[in-house]
Amino acid sequence: MSENGLKPGMSVLVIGSGGREHALAWKLNQSPLVSEIFIAPGNAGTAALGENLPIAAEDIDSLLAFALDRRTDLTVVGPEAPMVDGIADRFQEAGLKIFAPSAAAARIEGSKGWAKDLMSRARVKTAAAKSFDDSEEALAYIRSLPERSFVIKADGLAAGKGVLLPETHQEAANAIVSMIDGNAFGDAADTVLIEERTFGPEVSVFAFVQGEHVSAEVAACDYKRIGDNDEGPNTGGVGAYTPPEFWTDQLARQVRQEILEPVARQMVADSSPFSGVLYAGLMLTDDGPSVIEFNCRFGDPECEVLMPLLESDLAEICLATAEGRLEEIDVRWGDGAQVCVVMTSGGYPGKYRTGEPISGLEGAGLVFHAGTATGDDGEILTAGGRVLTAVGSGDTVEAARDDAYETVARIEFEREYHRADIADRAVDASMEPSSRR
Ligand code: AMP
Ligand code: GLY
Repeated sequence: MSENGLKPGMSVLVIGSGGREHALAWKLNQSPLVSEIFIAPGNAGTAALGENLPIAAEDIDSLLAFALDRRTDLTVVGPEAPMVDGIADRFQEAGLKIFAPSAAAARIEGSKGWAKDLMSRARVKTAAAKSFDDSEEALAYIRSLPERSFVIKADGLAAGKGVLLPETHQEAANAIVSMIDGNAFGDAADTVLIEERTFGPEVSVFAFVQGEHVSAEVAACDYKRIGDNDEGPNTGGVGAYTPPEFWTDQLARQVRQEILEPVARQMVADSSPFSGVLYAGLMLTDDGPSVIEFNCRFGDPECEVLMPLLESDLAEICLATAEGRLEEIDVRWGDGAQVCVVMTSGGYPGKYRTGEPISGLEGAGLVFHAGTATGDDGEILTAGGRVLTAVGSGDTVEAARDDAYETVARIEFEREYHRADIADRAVDASMEPSSRR
């Protein structure tokens, strides 16, 4: 045992298969406390850091059986679905340590209606919303609102695609009918939220939270649309950067005092204390920061820019959180800049081909894998829509952006597509008005 009660030689299980999970495994692998890493199911990138297991992230029974059998010391969960399904509760009942919120706490992401009620109890600023499970009532309500003044959201998990911003009443009516009465989002949209539309820059803020304790926070911006200048359909996220050009100490303090801390306190008061990473998706409105959504996990691809920025030991943070003593840990984020660019299979988020060989990875900069697989001859192949995340770092966002795109330029696969404008707005904002492009 070391002086802080941690034992070296930990065996860690990471759950998930995206760029986020590769970044988590990469950071855990740097910890002197960790001696072995399993990733379920992982990708071709995580296979270089540990052993990939052929178990799906949603298959809680098999994950639990593996962790018990191998006596893993810590499990770190990437995606929200197993959290909402109660993976933390199951592991804890079996006496295993896990870095993930309970099913009760994961409702902050799993049910938008529940999250709204929580924010109202905690007096946290968020757009006003009403829930409906009857399409006639929802339609009548919409007709009473001005056009472009509201957004429509599926209540449950919809893989980042459950939010519609209709421009007209007719568009809104069609959306409501397809969500509640149709099957556009499965059960996730049996209930919909109609929410006041707000305007302003968006930012993702992250902190490790355990009970009432909120660690140092960090902010990043992600890009959700597939095309340059935010054109085209929404994706899971195709680029990110930190720090945001508008992020200040004062804003950080305000977000902490008015959003993160009250929510953590309220969850304790409600007997569903949070434990894990809390992700606040905010819009900076003229009236101050307003919550768009909470997630109970790291963002993807935000995690890929945050792990290289994290100066503290991730294994130590996750273990302390799982053991209920996060307050003992000094969570420190570096003050450099990080930019990531996601390389996708052409056609994503629609139809795309997989199985294309990827070249140029060796000797390229920092790259986290997402949709990749190892072929029969050991070659690395594309296996998903988001394929790789190239990460650049530097003293400025401009240097980090150039570093990321240099890495992108070295890597090739058929029909590769990436946005060309990631972090440009932060670079432009950092220049004197006269020298802006
Ligand atoms: P979400 O899935 O909740 O992150 O929402 C996806 C995107 O929809 C957000 O990143 C915003 O751009 C937009 N959005 C969500 N809620 C609102 C709102 N109340 N007003 C304006 N835009 C919103
Ligand atoms: N990058 C957005 C998300 O992970 O939800």
